[in-house]
Amino acid sequence: MSREFSRVGVVGLGTMGAGIVEVFARNGVDVVAMEVNDEGVERGRGFLTKSTGRALDRGKITQEAYDALHGHVTYTTSYDDMAECELVVEAVPEHLELKKDILGHLDKVVAPDAILATNTSSLPVTEIAVATSNPKRVVGMHFFNPAPVLQFVEVIKTVVTEDGVFEDVKALAERLDKKPVVVGDKAGFIANALLFGYLNHAVSMYESRYATREDIDAAMKLGCGYPMGPLALMDLIGLDTAYEILDTMYKQGRDRLHAPSPIIKQMVSAGLKGRKSGRGFYTYA
Ligand code: CAA
Repeated sequence: MSREFSRVGVVGLGTMGAGIVEVFARNGVDVVAMEVNDEGVERGRGFLTKSTGRALDRGKITQEAYDALHGHVTYTTSYDDMAECELVVEAVPEHLELKKDILGHLDKVVAPDAILATNTSSLPVTEIAVATSNPKRVVGMHFFNPAPVLQFVEVIKTVVTEDGVFEDVKALAERLDKKPVVVGDKAGFIANALLFGYLNHAVSMYESRYATREDIDAAMKLGCGYPMGPLALMDLIGLDTAYEILDTMYKQGRDRLHAPSPIIKQMVSAGLKGRKSGRGFYTYA
């Protein structure tokens, strides 16, 4: 029998985690939203309030649905509150050891048949899975930014993921009104494997002053019909996140396409992380 998923957990309430909480809560699933400390909880709550407030202003959801959505979310800083969750998705920064540590903790708290999922963009799901006592119940569940808007979800199946586990996660993604695909555990899965070489190339074009940021973005937006240009998209993803993804992909594949353009690291060191910090390739109010 497939799982009901009436209660799930999300660990990490950054851009992606908060977006994932919103997706679950909007579809009537109770969510335990966890951060490492109260400050992190407040930041996550702020992301959720801002995004859902915009959806309300734009008429995407009614006041009733807005209230119901927030009513489905409880915030915590304790792993113990994850005990009743049938699925927990971790969405913390792209550091392998951190993700392994979190799944190791969750493994001890949740029920034996609960599913543990990682929203990693590029790290090996298999390596994260083996940090638990039962890698068969670990799967990748990779959402796209902004999670409440974009429909695609990659469900990553390792060589040991149980069939019932990824099938149930796929069915859940469909219930969330997403279009899931099941994919193997290869760096970047499908979308990021195709996307990040292109983004990196755009950054190096900008770095070498071959073209201005506006012209690079206009080329892809107006010339190719992409919803946004590559430098604006880097700012949306976050330069810190983009750096980690490129670095991981480069280390795994050793292709020059993914060797992070030096300016990305420089900008991250200088605090220019994109939208989340108010400035990246562009400046945000
Ligand atoms: N709930 C419901 N709807 C929402 C919403 C929410 N919380 N927030 C926004 N929306 C709706 C808006 O109402 C709007 O709908 P309409 O067009 O019907 O009015 C729509 O979503 C778009 O929102 P905006 O008008 O605010 O913004 P936009 O039109 O400028 O589009 C964008 C912004 C969705 C980001 C679009 O530019 C886009 O799709 N860009 C590409 C993003 C992309 O490529 N993401 C993938 C990044 S890679 C990744 O995520 C993987 C990884 O591992 C890092």
